[in-house]
Amino acid sequence: MNERVTLVRHPLIQHKLTLMRERSTSTAGFRRLLREISLLLAYEVTRDLPLTTTTIETPLAEMEAPVLQGKKLALISILRAGNGLLDGVLELIPSARVGFIGLYRDEKTLNAVQYYYKVPDDLDERPVIVVDPMLATGNSAVAAIDLLKRDGATDIRFLCLLAAPEGVARMTEAHPDVRIITAALDERLNERGYIMPGLGDAGDRMFGTK
Ligand code: URA
Repeated sequence: MNERVTLVRHPLIQHKLTLMRERSTSTAGFRRLLREISLLLAYEVTRDLPLTTTTIETPLAEMEAPVLQGKKLALISILRAGNGLLDGVLELIPSARVGFIGLYRDEKTLNAVQYYYKVPDDLDERPVIVVDPMLATGNSAVAAIDLLKRDGATDIRFLCLLAAPEGVARMTEAHPDVRIITAALDERLNERGYIMPGLGDAGDRMFGTK
């Protein structure tokens, strides 16, 4: 296993992911499961955030207590499927700053085409977590991270639900400094760029479109 990839094997995540993959799972069920999984993944993706201490007073004594160091995290959602992961992560880290990158896949070339970009200031001073449930070709992830690095981001993690080996290879080649945190590493991409066995189109399944 690539050392930049963290596979989160927690049984609750694996169980919920299986339910999400099932074609018979409803839109409402899919969304609920995604929210639940993203809370658990948020715990994992923030595991190595640096701490400092601050002086507080408990009802009994003064103490030096741990708090997160530095500026607030920036969460960057790759539209539109990223928003499904974003909701749960934000619930755990409500003070995070949030940015959006709109990218769609050109169905012929599978290349990422940008249509929206709005991100927090001071990216150079914040840990950045990019969220997108599916790391498929890796084209969108690489394009999004190119833009974030252009704007100063240096401490970047990529959080997804499913990754394909092709996407992991593309990301580690283009951005070897970016850690990938995923709940599963599937077998391959099909000829249309979908992850196999996967869960289908994450955006369609979460928003009930086709
Ligand atoms: N995006 C999806 O929603 N699903 C895939 O399988 C690949 C990319």
